[in-house]
Amino acid sequence: MHIITLIPGDGIGPEIIRETVRLIESTGADIKWEIKEAGNSAFLKHGDVLPYDVLESIKNNRVALKGPITTPVGDGFRSINVLLRKELDLYSNLRIIKNYKGVPSRYENIDLVIVRENTEDLYIGIEHMIGDDAAESIKIFTRKGCERIVRFAFDYARKENRKKVTAVHKANIMKMTDGMFLSIARTISKEYPEIQFEEMIVDAMCMKLVQSPEVYDVLVLPNLYGDIISDLCAGLVGGLGFAPGVNIGTEFAVFEAVHGSAPDIAGKNIANPTALILSAIQMLRFINEKESALKIENAMAAVLEEGKTVTRDIGGTATTSAYVDEIINHILEN
Ligand code: NAI
Repeated sequence: MHIITLIPGDGIGPEIIRETVRLIESTGADIKWEIKEAGNSAFLKHGDVLPYDVLESIKNNRVALKGPITTPVGDGFRSINVLLRKELDLYSNLRIIKNYKGVPSRYENIDLVIVRENTEDLYIGIEHMIGDDAAESIKIFTRKGCERIVRFAFDYARKENRKKVTAVHKANIMKMTDGMFLSIARTISKEYPEIQFEEMIVDAMCMKLVQSPEVYDVLVLPNLYGDIISDLCAGLVGGLGFAPGVNIGTEFAVFEAVHGSAPDIAGKNIANPTALILSAIQMLRFINEKESALKIENAMAAVLEEGKTVTRDIGGTATTSAYVDEIINHILEN
């Protein structure tokens, strides 16, 4: 049996988490959930957005499924996602970008994975003013940081039987930071002869992704380029509602949707749970419940393709639970 930390979160979080759990359980996956509160709800009860026992639970169970969290408005609140990343050293952020028939998109046959470095680069946030009229921000890359993210991308490609890794950089201009990233990628690529290695300057990458995204497989990027390209790619397949987010470190993994807590539609049972379900599929693969993952993915793809029982944001009229009921029906019928 797997024990997994479950963080319902805020806004639409508890609804989409409840439905996703119901879906997972319908496949027979052997999981016990340890429910923990974080975010606004935790703040109101315990005066802390990320109570100590949430981190303890993830550290014990190693895997968490997380709903979106509202960052309370006001000074001094810490971003929970940043805190989780830091405390658990979740150095890689994976975004799986895939087309599903029935989901409006300008493209077909996209199936790529973005591996974004999650802990270094300009995101360290070391900035200062130089007098009144200039500002400086420090971009930090370390050999350890570059090596582990590049190796993660190649290991992922090997494990998932993917064919190509593209390292995205701007080493022509930033010869030390991006230059080190690229040179490490070149060296490590030699250890994976069965995987094609390709390098691409980030601006050219943007153009090529818009022209022919179907030719890309695994992209590995430093933090800032990864952030931007992730959203560009989500836009290629129907937006953030279809983008699962996976944060993985050496020891722990946190699976979530990329979108926020959508307070404007919270409590109405109309949110689209697809992004969280896609993330849960990745979680099931991660814990080796591959059959359950496949069942959910096939059934969800069928329901999306039929287009009859889908949520309002993609042109349907179904509630969150009716959509999930339909996916469960497909699982039980097949
Ligand atoms: P948002 O993603 O919550 O909402 C933007 C728009 O998309 C809204 O109109 C919303 O109704 C819609 N939307 C989002 N998810 C949807 C879904 N599953 N189904 C149907 N419609 C959906 O972004 P917003 O409004 O900027 O942020 C709201 C709160 O969420 C903020 O407190 C923010 O800090 C937090 N947030 C949390 C994240 C996380 O925990 N991973 C990520 C992004 C934002």
